[in-house]
Amino acid sequence: MASLQKPLSLEALLEFGKSTSILSPGTFGLVVVLALWTLCKQTTQAQVPKIVKIPEAPDALPFKLKNDLFQMRLGSERAVVANTFATIKGLWVGHSNDLIDKPQQHAFAELLEYDLPGTNMTEPIRRCRKAATRVLSKPLWPTYYHLLEPSSVRLTKELLQKGRSHLDIYPYLRQIVFDLALSLTHGYVSTGLDDEFTDALVASINQISYFRASTQRFRDYVPMLRFLVTSFASRNLVASAEKERQKRLDVVYAALKKRTAAGEQVDCIVNGLVKDNLSEGEIHGTCKALLQAAPDSTASSVYLVIGWFSTPEGQEFQDVLYAEILNTYDGDRDKAWDMAFREESVELLVSLFKETLRLWTTTPFAVQRMTVKDVAYAGTIIPQGTTMIMNAQQANHDEVWYGNDAKTFKPARFVGNTTSLPHLTFGVGARICPAAALSNRIIYALVMRLVLAFKIQEEGKGARKANTDMLDFSDELGRDTEEI
Ligand code: HEM
Repeated sequence: MASLQKPLSLEALLEFGKSTSILSPGTFGLVVVLALWTLCKQTTQAQVPKIVKIPEAPDALPFKLKNDLFQMRLGSERAVVANTFATIKGLWVGHSNDLIDKPQQHAFAELLEYDLPGTNMTEPIRRCRKAATRVLSKPLWPTYYHLLEPSSVRLTKELLQKGRSHLDIYPYLRQIVFDLALSLTHGYVSTGLDDEFTDALVASINQISYFRASTQRFRDYVPMLRFLVTSFASRNLVASAEKERQKRLDVVYAALKKRTAAGEQVDCIVNGLVKDNLSEGEIHGTCKALLQAAPDSTASSVYLVIGWFSTPEGQEFQDVLYAEILNTYDGDRDKAWDMAFREESVELLVSLFKETLRLWTTTPFAVQRMTVKDVAYAGTIIPQGTTMIMNAQQANHDEVWYGNDAKTFKPARFVGNTTSLPHLTFGVGARICPAAALSNRIIYALVMRLVLAFKIQEEGKGARKANTDMLDFSDELGRDTEEI
């Protein structure tokens, strides 16, 4: 049986270190010095030593942000940031397999099983990525058209019904893209924006995204914090968000199983993944990764196009684009509508979405990578275990790569230019976004159908103006305060 010990009195505690019966003053001093030394080391030392020939921020003066490459400390992590298009291509494409891992966020791996975007390329993750790439590949798109098309019809109808007064279209777009992802993964059909079920699922997903691959939690970078402060608020928030996410996905999965058991043929990714011989855990992990990544970037890009359309320049462009669409389909508006998800035949629209993704870089630093071995680059060695960050936003505006007009929005920039890497917004190399081509198609189709159905204009007084700044586009501009 355990015996209860009497707690030490305050006097006894104050005497701690003096009393020879507990610790001698010498030993006590040694313990304190050791503790301070450990604390100092933990908080000031990086796991990877400083890399020669790469300037460091912010101490190594003179420091110019114009450097192609610089290094910095993120707590105990040593990170190298690449700033120009050529440098990113040289490292992320030239050393694709050497940059295949991700820096680990502590406690995330245990909470989110098979977390594809945040995990090293282990064997199960390789299987999940391979399967995700297969189910998102072009040959399988025709089986998904019937899932994609109704969402855009619903968007158009809802805008027609509700869009007579001021309406923020962003939540609609995000919901549409999420619904698309959910029907792609689980064949689930949501009933619309007010669907409480998907709202709660999106909320849990956003909560997880908020912490993932970010610097929100200092304890991911300062090891001592992980010892000093245990079960942290943020960890609990991730855990509760994961619980919510799983609870709802279990419902969606059970519904799918029921339909399949009843003999219905449901063309969706879960059923496709069964063919890849993935375990049930891997199937769920892959689908979660797809759902997790889907809602924001695709919706934001369509939102940015709509914002730019509402400017005087954008309104003029819409007329040109509308004519171009009709021209491509011999004046047949219905045919253009029907083909929106099925092909990318309007070159000007293809160029428009590429330029949108380039100038308004919705993923400014992509997702961090980690070197799996020493990488020889530019006369130095970037050691194994270094965090690699691409400054995709700066590289997308690189005048050496794109010319003097790199910082201007030119919707026809990519007409006649079929480069396989028009921008870096989907990342690049071995862990490039597996949904890049499908996302392009979704943006293309949604914009095409919006242009066919509406003329987008800036609203009158009292409405919020579109912010088309190439860096601050996600900040809201204030309302025009004059009376309507
Ligand atoms: C415009 C829309 C999108 C943008 C800009 C975007 C961007 C990105 C970026 C920058 C990465 C990291 C790439 C790298 O490390 O090089 C990524 C990874 C990923 N994306 Fe996307 N994404 C978009 C849409 C989607 C959608 C709709 C899905 C799912 C249906 C998706 C699924 C994923 C997955 C699973 C990964 C992780 C891949 C891995 O780590 O191996 N993305 N995305």
